[in-house]
Amino acid sequence: MTENPTVAGATLIDGKAIAHQVIEEIGAQVRQLTEAGKPVPGLAVVLVGEDPASQVYVRNKLLKCQQAGIVSREYRLAEETMESDLLGLLVDLNDDPDVHGILVQLPLPKHIDEQKVLMAIAPEKDVDGFHPQNLGRLMVGASDALVPCTPLGCLIMLRETLGDQLAGKHVVVVGRSNIVGKPAALLALQQHCTVTVVHSRSQEIESLCRQADVLIVAVGRPELVKADWVKPGAVVLDVGINRVERDGKARLVGDVAFDEVAQVASAITPVPGGVGPMTIACLLRNTLQAYRVQQG
Ligand code: GUN
Repeated sequence: MTENPTVAGATLIDGKAIAHQVIEEIGAQVRQLTEAGKPVPGLAVVLVGEDPASQVYVRNKLLKCQQAGIVSREYRLAEETMESDLLGLLVDLNDDPDVHGILVQLPLPKHIDEQKVLMAIAPEKDVDGFHPQNLGRLMVGASDALVPCTPLGCLIMLRETLGDQLAGKHVVVVGRSNIVGKPAALLALQQHCTVTVVHSRSQEIESLCRQADVLIVAVGRPELVKADWVKPGAVVLDVGINRVERDGKARLVGDVAFDEVAQVASAITPVPGGVGPMTIACLLRNTLQAYRVQQG
Protein backbone atom coordinates (compact mmCIF):
# COMPACT_ATOMS: atom_id res chain seq x y z
CA MET A 1 0.00 0.00 0.00
CA THR A 2 1.34 3.46 -0.91
CA GLU A 3 1.46 6.34 1.58
CA ASN A 4 -1.24 8.79 0.60
CA PRO A 5 -2.11 12.25 1.92
CA THR A 6 -5.23 12.68 4.00
CA VAL A 7 -8.07 15.16 3.58
CA ALA A 8 -10.31 15.91 6.57
CA GLY A 9 -9.29 12.55 8.07
CA ALA A 10 -9.84 10.45 4.94
CA THR A 11 -6.99 8.97 2.92
CA LEU A 12 -6.88 10.47 -0.55
CA ILE A 13 -6.78 7.65 -3.09
CA ASP A 14 -4.37 9.09 -5.62
CA GLY A 15 -5.58 7.69 -8.94
CA LYS A 16 -3.10 9.82 -10.82
CA ALA A 17 -0.15 8.27 -8.97
CA ILE A 18 -1.45 4.69 -9.25
CA ALA A 19 -2.16 5.24 -12.97
CA HIS A 20 1.36 6.57 -13.41
CA GLN A 21 2.77 3.34 -11.92
CA VAL A 22 0.55 1.20 -14.17
CA ILE A 23 1.54 3.16 -17.30
CA GLU A 24 5.26 2.97 -16.40
CA GLU A 25 4.94 -0.80 -16.04
CA ILE A 26 3.14 -1.10 -19.39
CA GLY A 27 5.79 1.11 -21.01
CA ALA A 28 8.52 -1.19 -19.69
CA GLN A 29 6.72 -4.25 -21.06
CA VAL A 30 6.21 -2.60 -24.46
CA ARG A 31 9.93 -1.67 -24.60
CA GLN A 32 10.88 -5.25 -23.78
CA LEU A 33 8.66 -6.55 -26.61
CA THR A 34 9.89 -4.12 -29.23
CA GLU A 35 13.54 -4.61 -28.24
CA ALA A 36 12.96 -8.32 -28.82
CA GLY A 37 11.90 -7.45 -32.38
CA LYS A 38 8.15 -7.87 -31.86
CA PRO A 39 5.68 -5.50 -33.54
CA VAL A 40 4.59 -2.40 -31.65
CA PRO A 41 1.13 -2.64 -30.00
CA GLY A 42 -1.39 -0.45 -31.83
CA LEU A 43 -4.63 1.19 -30.70
CA ALA A 44 -7.25 2.80 -32.97
CA VAL A 45 -9.46 5.43 -31.36
CA VAL A 46 -12.61 6.50 -33.19
CA LEU A 47 -14.37 9.74 -32.29
CA VAL A 48 -17.62 10.66 -34.03
CA GLY A 49 -18.81 14.26 -33.67
CA GLU A 50 -17.62 17.26 -31.71
CA ASP A 51 -18.57 16.53 -28.08
CA PRO A 52 -16.07 18.69 -26.15
CA ALA A 53 -15.72 16.28 -23.19
CA SER A 54 -15.13 13.33 -25.54
CA GLN A 55 -12.47 15.34 -27.38
CA VAL A 56 -10.61 15.89 -24.09
CA TYR A 57 -10.89 12.21 -23.10
CA VAL A 58 -9.64 11.05 -26.51
CA ARG A 59 -6.73 13.50 -26.45
CA ASN A 60 -5.67 12.18 -23.03
CA LYS A 61 -5.94 8.57 -24.18
CA LEU A 62 -3.72 9.24 -27.20
CA LEU A 63 -1.19 11.12 -25.06
CA LYS A 64 -0.87 8.26 -22.57
CA CYS A 65 -0.48 5.73 -25.40
CA GLN A 66 2.47 7.73 -26.62
CA GLN A 67 3.99 7.72 -23.12
CA ALA A 68 3.73 3.92 -22.96
CA GLY A 69 5.13 3.37 -26.46
CA ILE A 70 1.80 2.16 -27.88
CA VAL A 71 1.16 3.42 -31.42
CA SER A 72 -2.21 5.13 -31.61
CA ARG A 73 -4.28 6.17 -34.58
CA GLU A 74 -7.09 8.66 -34.27
CA TYR A 75 -10.11 8.54 -36.57
CA ARG A 76 -12.20 11.70 -36.31
CA LEU A 77 -15.52 11.39 -38.09
CA ALA A 78 -18.10 14.13 -38.67
CA GLU A 79 -21.23 14.26 -36.49
CA GLU A 80 -23.39 13.38 -39.52
CA THR A 81 -21.36 10.25 -40.39
CA MET A 82 -23.67 7.43 -41.48
CA GLU A 83 -23.82 4.35 -39.30
CA SER A 84 -22.88 2.20 -42.30
CA ASP A 85 -19.68 4.20 -42.81
CA LEU A 86 -18.68 3.76 -39.17
CA LEU A 87 -19.40 0.02 -39.43
CA GLY A 88 -17.28 -0.08 -42.61
CA LEU A 89 -14.35 1.52 -40.80
CA LEU A 90 -14.66 -1.07 -38.04
CA VAL A 91 -14.51 -3.91 -40.60
CA ASP A 92 -11.23 -2.44 -41.88
CA LEU A 93 -9.79 -2.00 -38.37
CA ASN A 94 -10.84 -5.53 -37.39
CA ASP A 95 -8.83 -6.81 -40.37
CA ASP A 96 -5.80 -4.56 -39.83
CA PRO A 97 -2.93 -6.57 -38.28
CA ASP A 98 -1.25 -3.39 -36.97
CA VAL A 99 -4.31 -2.56 -34.86
CA HIS A 100 -4.59 -4.67 -31.70
CA GLY A 101 -7.17 -2.56 -29.90
CA ILE A 102 -10.20 -0.58 -31.10
CA LEU A 103 -12.08 2.00 -29.08
CA VAL A 104 -15.14 3.91 -30.24
CA GLN A 105 -15.61 6.86 -27.89
CA LEU A 106 -19.12 7.09 -26.43
CA PRO A 107 -21.62 8.65 -26.54
CA LEU A 108 -22.30 8.37 -30.27
CA PRO A 109 -24.63 10.75 -32.15
CA LYS A 110 -28.31 9.83 -31.73
CA HIS A 111 -28.77 8.49 -35.28
CA ILE A 112 -26.17 5.74 -34.71
CA ASP A 113 -27.12 2.51 -32.91
CA GLU A 114 -24.53 2.19 -30.14
CA GLN A 115 -25.09 -1.52 -29.49
CA LYS A 116 -24.76 -2.32 -33.18
CA VAL A 117 -21.44 -0.47 -33.31
CA LEU A 118 -20.04 -2.07 -30.15
CA MET A 119 -20.99 -5.51 -31.46
CA ALA A 120 -19.15 -4.81 -34.74
CA ILE A 121 -15.79 -4.57 -32.95
CA ALA A 122 -13.90 -7.88 -33.03
CA PRO A 123 -14.11 -9.18 -29.43
CA GLU A 124 -10.34 -9.82 -29.32
CA LYS A 125 -9.73 -6.12 -30.17
CA ASP A 126 -12.47 -4.80 -27.88
CA VAL A 127 -10.23 -2.98 -25.38
CA ASP A 128 -13.26 -1.25 -23.84
CA GLY A 129 -14.69 -4.64 -22.90
CA PHE A 130 -18.15 -3.60 -24.08
CA HIS A 131 -18.77 -6.43 -26.56
CA PRO A 132 -21.34 -8.94 -25.23
CA GLN A 133 -18.73 -11.71 -25.58
CA ASN A 134 -16.38 -9.91 -23.20
CA LEU A 135 -19.20 -8.97 -20.83
CA GLY A 136 -20.26 -12.65 -20.88
CA ARG A 137 -16.70 -13.71 -20.09
CA LEU A 138 -16.68 -11.26 -17.18
CA MET A 139 -20.01 -12.67 -16.00
CA VAL A 140 -18.64 -16.24 -15.81
CA GLY A 141 -15.27 -15.12 -14.43
CA ALA A 142 -13.22 -16.18 -17.48
CA SER A 143 -9.57 -15.12 -17.19
CA ASP A 144 -9.39 -13.97 -20.83
CA ALA A 145 -12.16 -11.35 -20.50
CA LEU A 146 -11.30 -7.83 -21.61
CA VAL A 147 -12.82 -5.94 -18.66
CA PRO A 148 -14.31 -2.41 -18.99
CA CYS A 149 -11.64 0.12 -18.08
CA THR A 150 -13.37 2.28 -15.46
CA PRO A 151 -14.56 -0.62 -13.25
CA LEU A 152 -11.14 -2.28 -13.64
CA GLY A 153 -9.51 0.96 -12.52
CA CYS A 154 -11.85 1.03 -9.51
CA LEU A 155 -10.87 -2.52 -8.59
CA ILE A 156 -7.15 -1.76 -8.78
CA MET A 157 -7.65 1.27 -6.50
CA LEU A 158 -9.67 -0.82 -4.05
CA ARG A 159 -6.89 -3.42 -3.93
CA GLU A 160 -4.37 -0.63 -3.26
CA THR A 161 -6.56 0.74 -0.47
CA LEU A 162 -7.88 -2.40 1.19
CA GLY A 163 -5.25 -4.99 0.27
CA ASP A 164 -6.63 -8.45 0.99
CA GLN A 165 -9.50 -7.01 3.06
CA LEU A 166 -11.85 -6.67 0.07
CA ALA A 167 -13.48 -10.12 0.25
CA GLY A 168 -16.71 -10.10 2.24
CA LYS A 169 -17.12 -6.33 2.14
CA HIS A 170 -20.49 -4.83 1.24
CA VAL A 171 -19.99 -2.92 -2.02
CA VAL A 172 -22.85 -0.61 -3.01
CA VAL A 173 -22.72 0.54 -6.64
CA VAL A 174 -24.80 3.62 -7.42
CA GLY A 175 -25.70 3.52 -11.12
CA ARG A 176 -26.45 0.64 -13.46
CA SER A 177 -24.83 1.65 -16.75
CA ASN A 178 -23.28 -0.93 -19.06
CA ILE A 179 -20.02 1.05 -18.98
CA VAL A 180 -19.54 1.27 -15.20
CA GLY A 181 -22.31 0.16 -12.83
CA LYS A 182 -23.08 -3.33 -14.13
CA PRO A 183 -19.48 -4.44 -14.78
CA ALA A 184 -18.33 -2.89 -11.46
CA ALA A 185 -20.93 -5.01 -9.67
CA LEU A 186 -19.74 -8.16 -11.49
CA LEU A 187 -16.09 -7.45 -10.66
CA ALA A 188 -16.90 -6.86 -6.99
CA LEU A 189 -18.84 -10.12 -6.90
CA GLN A 190 -15.83 -11.89 -8.39
CA GLN A 191 -13.78 -10.48 -5.49
CA HIS A 192 -16.17 -12.20 -3.04
CA CYS A 193 -17.90 -8.98 -2.02
CA THR A 194 -21.56 -8.66 -1.13
CA VAL A 195 -22.97 -6.42 -3.84
CA THR A 196 -25.95 -4.08 -4.01
CA VAL A 197 -26.73 -2.01 -7.10
CA VAL A 198 -28.92 1.04 -6.59
CA HIS A 199 -30.27 3.29 -9.32
CA SER A 200 -32.69 6.08 -10.07
CA ARG A 201 -35.75 3.87 -9.43
CA SER A 202 -34.44 2.34 -6.19
CA GLN A 203 -36.29 3.02 -2.96
CA GLU A 204 -34.41 4.05 0.19
CA ILE A 205 -31.21 4.85 -1.77
CA GLU A 206 -29.64 6.77 1.07
CA SER A 207 -30.08 4.06 3.67
CA LEU A 208 -28.77 1.42 1.22
CA CYS A 209 -25.69 3.59 0.61
CA ARG A 210 -25.20 3.95 4.37
CA GLN A 211 -24.76 0.17 4.58
CA ALA A 212 -21.78 0.24 2.21
CA ASP A 213 -18.24 -0.60 3.27
CA VAL A 214 -17.29 0.45 -0.26
CA LEU A 215 -19.40 2.95 -2.19
CA ILE A 216 -18.87 3.26 -5.96
CA VAL A 217 -20.82 6.15 -7.46
CA ALA A 218 -21.34 6.47 -11.22
CA VAL A 219 -24.49 8.41 -12.04
CA GLY A 220 -23.37 11.71 -13.58
CA ARG A 221 -25.20 13.87 -11.00
CA PRO A 222 -22.99 16.58 -9.48
CA GLU A 223 -22.37 16.04 -5.75
CA LEU A 224 -25.42 13.80 -5.30
CA VAL A 225 -23.92 11.74 -2.48
CA LYS A 226 -23.79 13.65 0.79
CA ALA A 227 -22.02 12.89 4.07
CA ASP A 228 -25.16 11.40 5.66
CA TRP A 229 -25.32 8.78 2.86
CA VAL A 230 -21.96 7.37 3.94
CA LYS A 231 -21.13 4.97 6.79
CA PRO A 232 -18.23 6.27 8.90
CA GLY A 233 -15.04 4.57 7.70
CA ALA A 234 -16.38 3.59 4.26
CA VAL A 235 -14.19 3.71 1.15
CA VAL A 236 -15.72 5.99 -1.51
CA LEU A 237 -14.89 5.84 -5.22
CA ASP A 238 -16.33 8.72 -7.24
CA VAL A 239 -16.62 7.95 -10.96
CA GLY A 240 -18.50 11.14 -11.87
CA ILE A 241 -16.92 13.99 -13.82
CA ASN A 242 -19.39 16.86 -14.02
CA ARG A 243 -18.76 20.36 -15.34
CA VAL A 244 -20.46 22.95 -13.13
CA GLU A 245 -20.24 26.68 -12.68
CA ARG A 246 -19.20 27.96 -9.22
CA ASP A 247 -18.72 31.63 -8.42
CA GLY A 248 -18.73 32.36 -12.14
CA LYS A 249 -15.97 29.82 -12.82
CA ALA A 250 -16.17 26.47 -14.59
CA ARG A 251 -15.23 23.60 -12.28
CA LEU A 252 -15.14 19.80 -12.38
CA VAL A 253 -16.93 18.01 -9.57
CA GLY A 254 -17.75 14.36 -8.98
CA ASP A 255 -21.00 12.61 -8.05
CA VAL A 256 -19.91 12.85 -4.40
CA ALA A 257 -19.91 16.02 -2.28
CA PHE A 258 -16.18 15.64 -1.66
CA ASP A 259 -15.56 18.11 1.19
CA GLU A 260 -18.29 16.79 3.45
CA VAL A 261 -17.93 13.08 2.56
CA ALA A 262 -14.16 13.25 3.25
CA GLN A 263 -15.12 14.03 6.89
CA VAL A 264 -16.83 10.63 7.18
CA ALA A 265 -15.06 8.24 4.78
CA SER A 266 -11.81 6.43 5.59
CA ALA A 267 -10.61 6.85 1.98
CA ILE A 268 -11.93 8.73 -1.03
CA THR A 269 -11.00 9.46 -4.64
CA PRO A 270 -10.72 13.10 -5.72
CA VAL A 271 -12.21 14.54 -8.91
CA PRO A 272 -10.21 15.17 -11.00
CA GLY A 273 -7.22 12.89 -10.36
CA GLY A 274 -9.05 9.84 -9.03
CA VAL A 275 -10.87 7.33 -11.19
CA GLY A 276 -10.31 9.24 -14.49
CA PRO A 277 -6.56 8.57 -14.86
CA MET A 278 -7.09 4.92 -13.89
CA THR A 279 -9.58 4.47 -16.74
CA ILE A 280 -6.89 5.48 -19.22
CA ALA A 281 -4.23 3.32 -17.56
CA CYS A 282 -6.57 0.33 -17.82
CA LEU A 283 -7.19 1.06 -21.50
CA LEU A 284 -3.44 0.71 -22.10
CA ARG A 285 -3.39 -2.45 -19.96
CA ASN A 286 -6.23 -3.93 -22.03
CA THR A 287 -4.47 -2.96 -25.27
CA LEU A 288 -1.36 -4.85 -24.18
CA GLN A 289 -3.51 -7.82 -23.10
CA ALA A 290 -5.29 -7.85 -26.48
CA TYR A 291 -1.94 -7.56 -28.27
CA ARG A 292 -0.49 -10.53 -26.37
CA VAL A 293 -3.49 -12.73 -27.25
CA GLN A 294 -3.30 -11.71 -30.93
CA GLN A 295 0.45 -12.33 -31.04
CA GLY A 296 -0.13 -15.77 -29.50
N1 GUN B 1 -17.34 7.36 -22.69
C1 GUN B 1 -17.28 7.48 -21.34
N2 GUN B 1 -16.53 6.50 -20.81
C2 GUN B 1 -16.09 5.74 -21.85
C3 GUN B 1 -15.27 4.59 -21.94
O1 GUN B 1 -14.77 4.03 -20.94
N3 GUN B 1 -15.06 4.12 -23.20
C4 GUN B 1 -15.60 4.70 -24.29
N4 GUN B 1 -15.34 4.15 -25.47
N5 GUN B 1 -16.37 5.76 -24.24
C5 GUN B 1 -16.61 6.28 -23.02
